[in-house]
Amino acid sequence: MSVIEVKAYAKLNLSLDVLGKRPDGYHDMRMVMQTVGLTDQLRLETGTDKPLRMETNLGFLPADEHNLAAAAALRMCAAPGVEHGGLSIRLLKTIPVCPGLAGGGADAAAVLRGLNQLLGLGLSGQRLAEIGAQVGSDVPYCVMGGTALAEGRGEVLTPLPPLPPCHVVLCKPAFSVSTPELFKALDGCRICRRPDTAGLLAALEGGDLPEVARRMYNVFEDVLPSRRAQEIDAIKNVLIQHGALGASMSGTGPTVFGLFARREEAEGAWKALRELYRETFLAEAVGNLLEQV
Ligand code: C5P
Repeated sequence: MSVIEVKAYAKLNLSLDVLGKRPDGYHDMRMVMQTVGLTDQLRLETGTDKPLRMETNLGFLPADEHNLAAAAALRMCAAPGVEHGGLSIRLLKTIPVCPGLAGGGADAAAVLRGLNQLLGLGLSGQRLAEIGAQVGSDVPYCVMGGTALAEGRGEVLTPLPPLPPCHVVLCKPAFSVSTPELFKALDGCRICRRPDTAGLLAALEGGDLPEVARRMYNVFEDVLPSRRAQEIDAIKNVLIQHGALGASMSGTGPTVFGLFARREEAEGAWKALRELYRETFLAEAVGNLLEQV
């Protein structure tokens, strides 16, 4: 039996733009992505009795191929020459279960990175990303991590200069959102405001944290039902009042995050929001994940 412990890292969208609907039903995206040190923990074990066994600490999560971690393992093990003699996955969730932080995609990516190492497969990051793309649109980015531009469905990746060191406060309000429904809502309207992606890329190039934070924007914020949008704005206001350089919603939400230059200010925001929202976290930006497991 062989065992490996791997971390799955949440992602944020420093910006998110939807360029249009494609013939395959997906949408072309233009997003600046950032990994943060808010993690799930996975334990992978090979040489067990059953082809695939999975358990998680959250009873309501699927523990079969409907869980992206198991789906990724099945994809990986279907590749020619991959032998594991039975696989067990134990998943300890900390990342909120919501689409905005790609928690499921992060778990899938961690399984791909972990199995590659555990089974000594020697697959390239590019190959892992290709397998990941069959599991979910954000899995290729989650394989690579760090700061990156994601285009196409989300799988066309360009590494970017790292986000300057900063502190991140993440806060998930209690409501949930449907990713397909938010995409549908965007299809039905003309997008009036878009992120200045070129300006954001220039700010990253110049290592200018305040400029990065000032340019963060997510087009999904405009199609939230108004009561939800008000709650998102209220969280942003708390972040800004406590010194955030900028605040935005991540992905299709509902998690909101703020970037802080100063740790004390981030702690102040974290404490204030934690009084109101159980799922509030303080984290740091994290670089490329292919060098670490
Ligand atoms: O690929 P994934 O399963 O993560 O996508 C979930 C849903 O999000 C898709 O079924 C689709 O409705 C929507 N989506 C999209 N365009 C993308 C990514 C996701 O329309 N680029």
